[in-house]
Amino acid sequence: MASTGKLHGKIAIITGAAQGMGAEHARVFVAEGARVVLTDLQEQAGQALATELGASALFVRHDVSKAQDWDAVIAATRAAFGPANVLINNAAMYFIGPVDEADPERVRKLLDVNVFGSWLGISRIAPMMREAGGGSIINLSSLAGMRGIPWHGIYGTSKWAIRGLTKTAAYDLGPSGIRVNAILPGAIEETGMAGGPLDETQLAAIPLRRTGRKSEVSQLAVFLASDESAYITGGDHVIDGGRALW
Ligand SMILES: NC(=O)c1ccc[n+]([C@@H]2O[C@H](COP(=O)([O-])OP(=O)(O)OC[C@H]3O[C@@H](n4cnc5c(N)ncnc54)[C@H](O)[C@@H]3O)[C@@H](O)[C@H]2O)c1
Repeated sequence: MASTGKLHGKIAIITGAAQGMGAEHARVFVAEGARVVLTDLQEQAGQALATELGASALFVRHDVSKAQDWDAVIAATRAAFGPANVLINNAAMYFIGPVDEADPERVRKLLDVNVFGSWLGISRIAPMMREAGGGSIINLSSLAGMRGIPWHGIYGTSKWAIRGLTKTAAYDLGPSGIRVNAILPGAIEETGMAGGPLDETQLAAIPLRRTGRKSEVSQLAVFLASDESAYITGGDHVIDGGRALW
């Protein structure tokens, strides 16, 4: 029963929820009793998932790098469910290549979506969360945001920035009862950014010898969104099968 779920009473905005981990978070959050606003650039897939999830879900077309789109998401959330008390800044762009060979406009666009878009989300949702009596913001970083990984210069820069933004926002918003945490996934299967299956050498570098499942990341997001993590803020939460131990 939804009313007995770990997220009963939570109203969550999840960006980039049309596919990959964002879509899984939406499914798991609804199953745990939350009401969820799914946002994405991809209207068809996002709307289809919201329809599948029923009355506890709403899809809003959203470009996270546009302030006016955030205003529309906030207004739609308020109208459908009331003030949100959870935000997952999940939407992101990804490309790799030598750091000195990236196209400047592509670099600017990635930083605009991954960093500026996450900051916009935090700045736009903070007043609503104060009104709701507090909340939990979860930002998606990456192992590329804690190591120097070859060809991950631009994407990695954005994911390092997410950790800085997370810690600074945790300081500034903590007195308002708003917690801010980062999730740092390793390779998660069946997602847009995962690429294909890992080869033997890549698997050998992971102590648990497998890729992660989307549902495993969703369970961490449920914990960070729920009151069970009420005293946890500003943290880097690595979920990678031990990959970052090297
Ligand atoms: N997949 C992995 O293995 C992995 C590992 C580490 C970190 N991450 C991070 O986890 C998050 C989810 O990754 P994923 O692989 O599930 O993603 P994905 O590529 O499967 O999905 C990303 C979604 O974001 C949407 N999106 C892109 N730009 C947008 C914009 N401007 N506005 C709104 N929506 C936009 C896309 O349409 C897409 O639906 C990302 O932040 C990613 O950086 C992923």
